[in-house]
Amino acid sequence: MVVYFNDRFMEKEAVCISPDDRGFLFADSLYEVIRSYKGTFFRAKQHLSRLGYGATHLKLGKTDFSELEEIARKLVVKNRLESEDAVVYFQVTRGVAKRSHAFPLPAPRPTIYASVSKFDPGPADRDRETGIHVITIADTRWARCDMKTTALTPNILANQAAVEAGATEAIFIRDGVMLEGSHSNFAAVFDNVLVTAPLSNYILGGITRQFVMQLCARENIRIEERPIFEQDIHLATEMMILGTTTEVTPIVRMNNTIFKEGKPGPVTRALQMAYNQKIALIG
Ligand SMILES: Cc1ncc(COP(=O)(O)O)c(C=O)c1O
Repeated sequence: MVVYFNDRFMEKEAVCISPDDRGFLFADSLYEVIRSYKGTFFRAKQHLSRLGYGATHLKLGKTDFSELEEIARKLVVKNRLESEDAVVYFQVTRGVAKRSHAFPLPAPRPTIYASVSKFDPGPADRDRETGIHVITIADTRWARCDMKTTALTPNILANQAAVEAGATEAIFIRDGVMLEGSHSNFAAVFDNVLVTAPLSNYILGGITRQFVMQLCARENIRIEERPIFEQDIHLATEMMILGTTTEVTPIVRMNNTIFKEGKPGPVTRALQMAYNQKIALIG
């Protein structure tokens, strides 16, 4: 597999990442993932601009990552994935330096790694059809969830708890508010209105969330960005997760409660259909 590492394309086996890399030492690093539908990227600019947003807030010294779109394109071609569905992952760290908490001086060059692989939907296709089981879990993450850093331990533990409970995703709850999943945004339908948490430092501004909001406008589905309180969730008629790899996936069970007879609802289905139509046009 051909990957990209610090200005060069090379075989993955040839990549040498220093043990002094701050991504390894401190998770002083960001990541992004972009879907390629048969050679066409979905919302690449938005993903790379979110990387720039994180880099600005981490003061990484580099804030413009627009060149990575062309690099991603070359990776798709070099790995002969133009006619497949694929995912491109980018990892960006502050770079290699002698260990110290404060920013090293002089500032090292950020480490940039990118790789592509054929998208393996696993059970995701079935999940989108039948819906998933989620658990709720206390949000133990830090207060800068708006940056896509690689410091994912709380997300990993939350998702593992979900898997051990026979579920697919865990929804984080902070101060009684249902915020987002371990690797997805969360939305629910109340009185035919799609409700999702407002953008804040407590959630990642999902590219899929943003896209689904645009689909809502086109499908005449009303949207409200406001907190969803756990105590009110029984009033919801539908729930779903949104994300690059999950797209729009219905939730049919939360903890031990089977939701609406375990069947995905009409707003979720309308959004899935609109989403698929859009993908069919680009793919
Ligand atoms: C914590 C979290 N929230 C939301 C999302 C969804 O974001 P996107 O739609 O940009 O994939 C992700 C995706 O990885 C995530 O990790």
